[in-house]
Amino acid sequence: MRSYSLIAPAKINLYLEILGDRPDGYHELAMVLQSIDLADQIDLRSISTDNIYLHCDHPQVPQDKSNLAYRAAELMMLHFPKAYAQYGGVEITLHKRIPIAAGLAGGSTDAAAVLVGIDLLWNLGLTQSELQELGAKLGSDVPFCIAGGTAIATGRGDQISPLPDLDNLYVILGKYRSLGVSTVWAYQTYRQQFGSSYVVGAKSLETRASRVHSGPLVNALFHRDGAKIGQLLHNDLERVVLPTYPQVLQLREAFQSQGALGSMMSGSGPTVFALAESYEQAQQIQEQVKAMIPAPDLDLWVARFCHTGIHVLSSVNPS
Ligand code: C5P
Repeated sequence: MRSYSLIAPAKINLYLEILGDRPDGYHELAMVLQSIDLADQIDLRSISTDNIYLHCDHPQVPQDKSNLAYRAAELMMLHFPKAYAQYGGVEITLHKRIPIAAGLAGGSTDAAAVLVGIDLLWNLGLTQSELQELGAKLGSDVPFCIAGGTAIATGRGDQISPLPDLDNLYVILGKYRSLGVSTVWAYQTYRQQFGSSYVVGAKSLETRASRVHSGPLVNALFHRDGAKIGQLLHNDLERVVLPTYPQVLQLREAFQSQGALGSMMSGSGPTVFALAESYEQAQQIQEQVKAMIPAPDLDLWVARFCHTGIHVLSSVNPS
């Protein structure tokens, strides 16, 4: 039977600005997204029945239709009925390394890997933009996760403009295991508290979104200026998450006090990341923060910026 193993990197938000409401009920965003080499592995195997089987080694990850990876496989079956009839169902095995409900797009990147993997399993030959169009039906972060690297994301977060690759920076990530933030809650609370200052009107929203392209962070990214990038990190969702979860703020301040280039919450949180210029500096910050906050519940990782989205680790019997 044919099979593929894929690597699915996590993402962090170097910049997240909430501009206003969209007619579809989502928010209009201006973001800068970055892939990191903290990644899940997804194994996909064609099977002789027409089922979808999903296995995962993480006890909190659902193994049914509520998992976005499962829905990605369903979406492919719906869109490509001939290939589904020819190749049959799929068995999906998720090896989770990215923490869940963490603001790191763990669920979205797994779903992205399923789309890319089924495209390969079924010899569909879809282009990256065709895969991204399908991905947008599953979640706002899925199109970025397919391409990966460094990119501006606007609209719902699904309009991707790639930026030059950046792999000279390291990142220290911290997350309290018992803490998970609902993305829906974070955006809803933001709307309740700050909705009155939203930009209104399609033209004004477009103008505001386009500003990120010529903004100071993108300029610093083009110059690979780690110190500037660190100073220019921004995330509007901190305004609702930090007051509700003081541990997240404490962690962010701990990173900052240990000489990180900058520190910020990723996405809707609660993961906090800090930037460092070298692996040694990142490790040192990790050790110092571990000593400052000796909570047994706090997980810390060191990762590196990477310029790949979903990619193949190995395959068996592809034709
Ligand atoms: O697209 P995704 O399913 O990942 O989004 C999860 C939730 O985050 C949405 O249901 C919505 O409440 C919120 N969201 C938003 N605006 C966006 C992206 C997400 O309000 N652009």
